[in-house]
Amino acid sequence: MEQWSKETIAAFRKTLLTWYDENKRDLPWRHDHDPYHVWVSEIMLQQTQVNTVIPYYERFMSMFPTINDLAAAKPEQLLKAWEGLGYYSRARNLQRAAREIVNDRHGEWPTTAAGLQELTGIGPYTAGAIASIAFGEPVAAVDGNAFRVFGRLLMIDADITKPATRQLFAETIDRIIDPQRPGDFNQAIMDLGSSYMTVKNPDVEHSPVKMFDRSYETGHVLDYPVKTAKPRPVPVDYVALVIHTPAGYLMTKRPSTGLLANLWTFPLVKVSDLLKDDEQETDLMDVDIVSRAEQAFETETEIPVSLALIGGRAVTHTFTHLKWQIRLVSAELSTVPDISLFAGEIVAESAFDQYPMPVVQQKLWRRWQAASKK
Ligand code: ADE
Repeated sequence: MEQWSKETIAAFRKTLLTWYDENKRDLPWRHDHDPYHVWVSEIMLQQTQVNTVIPYYERFMSMFPTINDLAAAKPEQLLKAWEGLGYYSRARNLQRAAREIVNDRHGEWPTTAAGLQELTGIGPYTAGAIASIAFGEPVAAVDGNAFRVFGRLLMIDADITKPATRQLFAETIDRIIDPQRPGDFNQAIMDLGSSYMTVKNPDVEHSPVKMFDRSYETGHVLDYPVKTAKPRPVPVDYVALVIHTPAGYLMTKRPSTGLLANLWTFPLVKVSDLLKDDEQETDLMDVDIVSRAEQAFETETEIPVSLALIGGRAVTHTFTHLKWQIRLVSAELSTVPDISLFAGEIVAESAFDQYPMPVVQQKLWRRWQAASKK
């Protein structure tokens, strides 16, 4: 790994910030340094691209203009604002932290990265971003952009999938960050990481910090940052039951803990729950999943249905460690059934906007729409 002299560090700060001043992206959360604005944007940006986040951020701020509004929001309203962004526990944690600040801390924000990490859902990256941007603390915000930019500039050989490596990057960046403008410095690194120094096809030739880039000089740009392969998400097969009645669709609310907590979907049945122990390894083609799903549904709910498979590829949705592969089966009921044994509700399509639904449900809905229009 490269070590920079004091002079190199000074030259780098100047080059980077001059470039940033002339080329920074005009983003709505950059219009001021309010910690509430910085925080909400950083949480949204954790798993979602800038362009997708912008309209969500603006809508969120019009719904919850202050941290007090967020602390007081109804959970359903909050999930509705988050709908489509995914990783819903982030929204719940956002509200928990808002209440910690408003109620436990009398509205006072911690102003250092160390203090911010005491709040729910704020890890080292988010704490560094808020502390540097909102409070001017000269502290690194180590995200994928920082790994990429500094991994390449300095040819840092540590594996970024190992937890200890974050600390190495943080210490390295803490020495380089501009103490006068730490928030701009960190955001300049983010802008570089999403323009000239992307994962694929970086354009270092035109990068404003090309002369500081040791990996470019030596022809090793794509070898950095060093990253061992991640385990693939584990595939899990599901059947989604699209059961339409004259009053609407049968919908279920997920349990209050775990993946997609409290969100509404079509009833989802794990295929492994439809198989006997000695069938678990069998090829799905060899089992009549549709009639198994029908039997299981009828046994549980006492609602007779005649399910039909909707063809085409499975709808897939990847979570951090899981990949759901969902086949749709549908039934049209001519009368509204007695749902006293069904764990859910019948929801009219016109009322969908009152039920928070995850991205995967939106994918199922689109597939169903496409199939039923054929
Ligand atoms: N990605 C994460 N945080 C960001 C920010 N503040 N500006 C631009 N991109 C970002």
